[in-house]
Amino acid sequence: MAVKKKPVTICVINLKGGVGKSTVTALLSRFAFNRKALDVLAIDLDPQANLSQGLMQQEYSDFLSEMRPSIVEVFQDYIPPQKGGGGPTPLDAESVTQVVLDRSDRSLDLIASRFDFSDALTDAIRPDPKILAKFLSKNFKEKDLILIDCSPTESIFTQAAYHASDYVLIPVRPEYFATIGFPLLAESISNFHSKNRGHRLDVLGVIINNAFYDGGNDGGPEKGRAMVEIQRECKKNKWSIFRIPMYHSRGYPKLMRGDYRYPGDASYFWGLADEILEKAGF
Ligand SMILES: Nc1ncnc2c1ncn2[C@@H]1O[C@H](COP(=O)(O)OP(=O)(O)O)[C@@H](O)[C@H]1O
Ligand SMILES: [Mg+2]
Repeated sequence: MAVKKKPVTICVINLKGGVGKSTVTALLSRFAFNRKALDVLAIDLDPQANLSQGLMQQEYSDFLSEMRPSIVEVFQDYIPPQKGGGGPTPLDAESVTQVVLDRSDRSLDLIASRFDFSDALTDAIRPDPKILAKFLSKNFKEKDLILIDCSPTESIFTQAAYHASDYVLIPVRPEYFATIGFPLLAESISNFHSKNRGHRLDVLGVIINNAFYDGGNDGGPEKGRAMVEIQRECKKNKWSIFRIPMYHSRGYPKLMRGDYRYPGDASYFWGLADEILEKAGF
C-alpha cells in the first residue's frame, strides 16, 4: 500500500454564516484526535473566533489577555516585540499553537483567532494569500490532518484557505438563503481553479445541516424547495452530498467544548465524521 501523503488539509467553508462551519470543524478535530488517533491541527480563520472559543473554552480569555500569538502573527510573518524587549522575533510553529489535547506521540493543536484579526491585517498592506500555505508546508508536515475553519465572507483569508488545502468541505442548511450563497461558492472555487491550475482542490462533499428544531419547525415547504436547489447545484458542480446529515441538537455546543456527558442527538455526528474522514482517505 502506498504511504499516505501527510497531512491531509481540509477547509470548511460556505459563504454564509450560521450553517455549522465552526461546529463541524471543532467536532471533526476532536473526533479525529480522540477516536481516530490522528495528529491534528485546527486553524481558526474567522475573526468571530467561535472555533477558538469552542476548543479552548475558559482558556481563550487568558489567550486574549496575555496577547499570545495567533493567526494574525501567521499572516504578519513575525512575532511583534513582547514585554521585556528583544524586538520582533521570527515566527515559529510552537509559539503560535495552543495545545488543546495532548498524548505522548500526538496532539490536537489550534492556531487561534482574535476578534481584531481582519482589522489588524486588511488595514495594513494586503497580506500574501499564500503565506498560510507556506507556513504550514514548513512547519506541519508531520500532522495527519489539518482543518481550517473559514469566515463566511469571501476575502484574502478565503484565498489563503484554498491555497493551503487539499479539500473543501461544505456545510449547508436547507433553507431559502442557501440557494443564493451556494452558486457564489461554486464560482469562488472555480475562480480559484482557473487562476491556480497546478493546484488540485477538490470538494470533499456537502454536509446537509438539518438544524431545524424537532419540536415543531421542521423547515416547512421552504426546506424541500431548498433541498431541490442544493441537489441541482451539487449535480451541476459534481459535488457529492454526504449520506449522513446533521440533525438538530442542542448538544453541539457541549460536544464542541469536549463535554461528552449529555450530547443527545449530537452523537449522531460521529457517523457523519466517520464518513467524512473515510472520504479523505483515513
Ligand atoms: N444541527 C444543529 N442543531 C442545533 N444547533 C446547531 C446546529 N448546527 C449549528 N447549530 C448552532 O447554530 C449556531 C451557528 O453554528 P456555527 O457552527 O457557529 O456556524 P458557522 O460557523 O457556519 O457560522 C451555533 O450556535 C450552533 O451551535
Ligand atoms: Mg463560524
